[in-house]
Order: sequence, then structure tokens, then C-alpha cells
Amino acid sequence: MSEDNNQLIVQVNLDARSYEIAIVSNAMPSIGSCVSKWFASIPNRPENADRCLIVTDRNVAPHAVTVAASLEDAGWDCRSITLEPGETSKSYDATHTMYDALVDMKADRHTAIIAVGGGVVGDSAGFIAATYGRGVPFIQVPTTLLAHVDSSVGGKVAINHPKAKNLIGAFYQPQGVFIDTTVLDTLPKRDYRSGLAEVIKYGVILDADFFDYLEQNIDGLNERSPDVMREIIAQSCRLKAHVVENDEFERTGLRAVLNYGHTFAHAFEALCGYGELLHGEAVAIGMVCASRLAERIGLIESAMTARQIELLQAVSLPVELPSDSTLNTDDIIDRMKLDKKTVAGRLRFVLPTKMGHVEVFKDIAESDVRAVLNE
Ligand SMILES: NC(=O)c1ccc[n+]([C@@H]2O[C@H](COP(=O)([O-])OP(=O)(O)OC[C@H]3O[C@@H](n4cnc5c(N)ncnc54)[C@H](O)[C@@H]3O)[C@@H](O)[C@H]2O)c1
Ligand SMILES: [Zn+2]
Repeated sequence: MSEDNNQLIVQVNLDARSYEIAIVSNAMPSIGSCVSKWFASIPNRPENADRCLIVTDRNVAPHAVTVAASLEDAGWDCRSITLEPGETSKSYDATHTMYDALVDMKADRHTAIIAVGGGVVGDSAGFIAATYGRGVPFIQVPTTLLAHVDSSVGGKVAINHPKAKNLIGAFYQPQGVFIDTTVLDTLPKRDYRSGLAEVIKYGVILDADFFDYLEQNIDGLNERSPDVMREIIAQSCRLKAHVVENDEFERTGLRAVLNYGHTFAHAFEALCGYGELLHGEAVAIGMVCASRLAERIGLIESAMTARQIELLQAVSLPVELPSDSTLNTDDIIDRMKLDKKTVAGRLRFVLPTKMGHVEVFKDIAESDVRAVLNE
């Protein structure tokens, strides 16, 4: 990690697929020179190959205009395509639109795809980058907090099958990730808080000092202070990068720690219906449930759950299902059994054993899960 003019660089070390995450504030106009620097290091890249397709969505199009202007100043020839906001842009139709745009511009294997947007744009444009011409260079310019700390790190790209989310995808690392925290100024409050749930998750699962830092910087978190934003984004990226470096293709099981709170969350999200609960809100409630489960089977004291509840509430995240929720325990348990993290019907959970550390528990009694849900 190095620091220069408030710029933080997080290095993701994956042999030939290594790349940098640059974290800045108020410096989007410098993205062109940064991207050019990343491409200059690609071996055997021909001269005059600096062409790109910028993929964005309607809500973030103004940020994409700034990105295009900076790239053009740095000598890039840019085309742009604007998707509809929302999960529907991870569809076959959206992929056809992107492939067609690449064919129209006679893109070759040096043409870059630049994703300017949240996790939806990053996942779908990344999938196109992984597959067009068997792979073209890819740059992420994430614009939601969730994309800053989660979806733009780790190389998972995907679109949805009509019957299953993220079913069609690849592991495909970008050439670089450029994060300007200033984009968060336009992000709606709910989406911002939803991203904070994943940030808090990193503290609980991997880094007790980071959890302390979050507790000590509540005002900065709520005000989206640039200094605090750079710090929490950089530390979240370092922590996720470390996990990914040791389990890039999800083979050793290490990546599973990132699923803390998610077995509960996926069930809540699926049963509540789209839009009722944002992913991060479901994760916040899911972390509280998982922590209570850990308490119940004697792994931790109740004080550890209380600390998480206090921090989540301080940033206005929910810690229990809405009082008018009609979800019932049987449906939630049935749904959890469908989760891909469940093996042979036994309930598997990532649970904390102390602040900053979690482990996978493979054989949790259904009665304990039921008791937590009924609390
Ligand atoms: N690849 C991974 O490892 C990974 C990890 C987690 C989530 N995901 C995926 O990420 C997606 C969710 O990502 P998301 O939460 O970023 O959602 P999103 O991309 O849908 O963005 C949320 C909303 O905010 C708008 N928006 C984005 N940036 C904005 C800004 N700066 N100002 C104003 N509006 C802005 C978007 O247009 C959208 O309406 C899901 O599809 C999920 O599957 C992928
Ligand atoms: Zn998540």
C-alpha cells in the first residue's frame, strides 16, 4: 500500500493477473492518465490501441461523461453505452446490446471495456469483457459503496439466468479499479447504508481493529467524510483482496468467510420479494441472527452481538425484520436448505468465535436456528 496526495493504492496480488485499486477523492478527471499507466504495463500491447467501450447506467451517466472526457484527453478513442438501472441489466438482452456495440465499433482483443456504475454494471460489463473475443482488458470504475468494497474486488463477473441469479459467469480480473469516493455524494441514502453493512462485516470476520475504527468514526460514516470513506474502502479492499489472493477460484473454502450473515440474508431477500429489503439491509439483519446463533451454541458472549447491533443501528441499518413482515420460520429454514452453502440438507453457517474471526460450522442443529429466528 502506498499513499500519495491522499491517494491510497491497494495492490491485489494474483501472479500475472495482479492489479491495482486506486482510491482517491475528487480526482475523477485524472482517471485517463491512471488507466493509460495501467495499460502501458501490458506486454506486447500495440501502439494506437487505446480504444474503449464505456458501459454505464442512466443514473450514473454523468460520472461516465467525466470518465470519457478524461480518457479522451489522455488520447483514448471512447464509445459509450448506457444500460437501464437495476438488476434487469444483468440479462441476455443487455449482453446482446453490449456485444452488438463492440461488433459495431470493430473492437479487437486490445479494446478495453470500462464499467462505470454499481455492481450491476460491473458484473454485466465484466462478463462481456471475459467473453468477447475470449477476453478483452477490463477496468472497473465502481460508483456504489457496495461495488467499492465488494463487487469490484475479487474477479467474479456474471449475468442472471431468468431462474437463477449470477448463474452465468466467470472469474475475470480487471486491469485496474479506479475508485473516486466523490461519486458517493449522489448515491441514495439506502444504497449507501446497504454498502456499509458489508464494510461492518469485514470488521467482524477479519479485523477487530477495523471494527474499533468504525465504532470510533460514526459521524464520518454518516456524513460520508472523504477521509473516512477512503480509509474504510481501502481497508475493506485489502481484507477482501487478501481472502481472494488465497482462494481466487473459490476452491479452498477460504472465500466462504465472506458469507457471514449471508445464509440468513439470502433467505430474507428471496422471501421478502424484490426491492423490499436491499441486500445490505438483509445482511445487517443476517449478521445479527448469525451472531445470536453463535451465542446460543456457546461460541461468543452476548456483548459481541450487542456491539454489532449498536454499530449497525448507529448507521441506521435494520437489525431485525420489519415488524409487518409476514415471513415465517418454516419458510426461512426451507429457503436456507436451498442455499448453495447448504450441504446435504445440513445447515452450514459462518459464525464468529471472537471479534475479527469467523469459522465455518457445518452441522448446526435446525432447532438452534429455529430458536434464533423465533426470538
Ligand atoms: N461480483 C461480485 O463479487 C459481487 C459481489 C456483491 C454483489 N454483486 C452484485 O452487485 C449487484 C448489486 O450492486 P449495487 O448494490 O451496486 O447495485 P446497482 O448497480 O443496481 O446500483 C444501485 C442503484 O444505484 C444507482 N447508482 C449507482 N451508483 C450511483 C451513484 N454514484 N449515484 C447515484 N446513483 C447511483 C444505480 O443506477 C442503481 O439504481 C447485484 O447484481 C449483485 O449480484 C456482485
Ligand atoms: Zn453481500
